[in-house]
Amino acid sequence: MRFQGFLRMEPAAANEGILAWLREVESLGAMLTNGAAARLGPHAASVDNLRSSVHAALARLLDFKWASPEVKAAARGYMERNPALRQVGRYRFSTDWMSKCEAEWREVLSPLMGQPGARVLEIGSFEGRSAIWLLENVLTHPTSRITCVDLFEGNAARLFDENIATSGAGERVEKLVGLSHVALRRLPPEPVYDFIYVDGSHETYDVLEDAVLCLRLLKPGGVMTFDDYGMAAAQLADFQDISRPDLGIDAFLSAAARHLQVVRKAFQVTVRKNPA
Ligand SMILES: C[S@@+](CC[C@H](N)C(=O)[O-])C[C@H]1O[C@@H](n2cnc3c(N)ncnc32)[C@H](O)[C@@H]1O
Repeated sequence: MRFQGFLRMEPAAANEGILAWLREVESLGAMLTNGAAARLGPHAASVDNLRSSVHAALARLLDFKWASPEVKAAARGYMERNPALRQVGRYRFSTDWMSKCEAEWREVLSPLMGQPGARVLEIGSFEGRSAIWLLENVLTHPTSRITCVDLFEGNAARLFDENIATSGAGERVEKLVGLSHVALRRLPPEPVYDFIYVDGSHETYDVLEDAVLCLRLLKPGGVMTFDDYGMAAAQLADFQDISRPDLGIDAFLSAAARHLQVVRKAFQVTVRKNPA
């Protein structure tokens, strides 16, 4: 995002640049479509994600001592006119990391759709968007269940609870609160899950550890998908502090090569565990 560049400027130039940037963002915002957002890279993917990035940047800006009163007023005005949350059907979400993978998930997960007793494990649930997609499209049988592992902190945790309650499927959702490497070790060490979605911490070592712990919990023949394999490659070139889930996923794929088949390697990576 161009916003990062302002942080390296002299305060006067930065304040002026931010005011112009805000005017531009607001005028373009009304015209932006999901298709246009996706052309900015798979991680941007939707208007909701771009909007959420602008909100996060502006929230940071309000804390900067060098930001002028005029800039802070403009930022507050923008945030009031453009709320961070959006009603999506019956739910409220601030972001959309789901639409970009829906088509692939429908294809890979079709054998699991509507199956009695189907079990899914999700690492990283945030506001519940991917969990709800799974509940509405795959875990449609009343005996199917999802286990959601997350830190469940702040506003996202409140939205997760609200959205799951709205879905009416709350009784089929098990929440495990805490760091995934701790929570996953508390689960019975049995291969019971048909599908595992790894979308929690994006730090290389954490992703590798989640992958190793999850493979033990995946049924033979079960499917595991990692988000954001392509994230680092899609980041803007001047973005310094990038997480590298791809390095963790590649390390896992090498170490576990004898135990799985790679189904797809694109922005997401999907593997199938070999039969017993
Ligand atoms: C990208 S979001 C998940 C988005 C969600 N899967 C969706 O598509 O709607 C990542 C989530 O992982 C959680 N998270 C990050 N590090 C974690 C960790 N070490 N253990 C458990 N959860 C973690 C965050 O709290 C956040 O909610």
